[in-house]
Amino acid sequence: MGNKIEINGISKIFRKNGKEITAMQETYLSIEEGRFVSIIGPSGCGKSTLFNIIAGLVPPSTGTVLAGGANIIGKTGHVGYMLQKDMLLPWRTILDNIILGMEIRGVPRKQAVDRALPLMEKYGLKGFDKHYPAELSGGMKQRAALLRTLLYDRDIILLDEPFGALDAQTRITMQNWLLQIWGDFGKTVLFVTHDIDEAIYLSDDIYVFTARPGRIKTKVSVNMERPRKQEDMTSEAFTGLKHRLMELLSEERQTAQAEEMIS
Ligand SMILES: Nc1ncnc2c1ncn2[C@@H]1O[C@H](COP(=O)(O)OP(=O)(O)O)[C@@H](O)[C@H]1O
Ligand SMILES: [Mg+2]
Repeated sequence: MGNKIEINGISKIFRKNGKEITAMQETYLSIEEGRFVSIIGPSGCGKSTLFNIIAGLVPPSTGTVLAGGANIIGKTGHVGYMLQKDMLLPWRTILDNIILGMEIRGVPRKQAVDRALPLMEKYGLKGFDKHYPAELSGGMKQRAALLRTLLYDRDIILLDEPFGALDAQTRITMQNWLLQIWGDFGKTVLFVTHDIDEAIYLSDDIYVFTARPGRIKTKVSVNMERPRKQEDMTSEAFTGLKHRLMELLSEERQTAQAEEMIS
């Protein structure tokens, strides 16, 4: 399976208590292998809905999603997906949480453990294999959840505001950690965030979505060299992009607020 992803005319209308809510207008989006792509947009514009559709958890009203050329609509198991809430199982140790994806895929336990332990060591979870999620810091839990997503071994991974609940310092550590992992594993990453700095720092391309019903408003490419460093955030290129994105987003937030007032 290749890891190019094509979203062809995906839209979504939810029906609730006899009312129709258009969560997403027809959206077209094509992401080349190995890219890091972020989606930003006002709350409620359909970002999580799009991810749920790509992951096969929610059927779209129209359109197809192709992963490596195959339609994956309504099919789970083709992408790795990590939600904002870390979703570690509290009754499983960190190791058993990390190997869950492999377990689901039928990898024998010993083989899964042999694969997971060196990665835990390399990525800052050494010695925590027998701990339970409640014993770990927020950043460590997110690391464990991300390792589990990676070890599910799909070429495409979806990360929905994975660092949203972390404090600023931990968040920066996690961003660098994610870039290292992305470099090591070479996955195609689709990333939702509402943090503009984070989107610029991590991404090759950023899609700005409109207020609900969401559609792509603009694509902004981040032509900054990698590896990126924290200091890059003060560069002219970075701040220029930041101002542009802030303007685009604030237009959409205003639309969203205006609509809330009249509905
Ligand atoms: N299962 C559902 N039933 C009805 N409406 C939903 C459902 N899931 C999401 N929505 C609505 O669709 C819109 C988009 O939601 P969501 O994709 O979660 O937005 P975002 O992740 O961009 O904040 C929101 O108005 C939300 O209330
Ligand atoms: Mg969301």
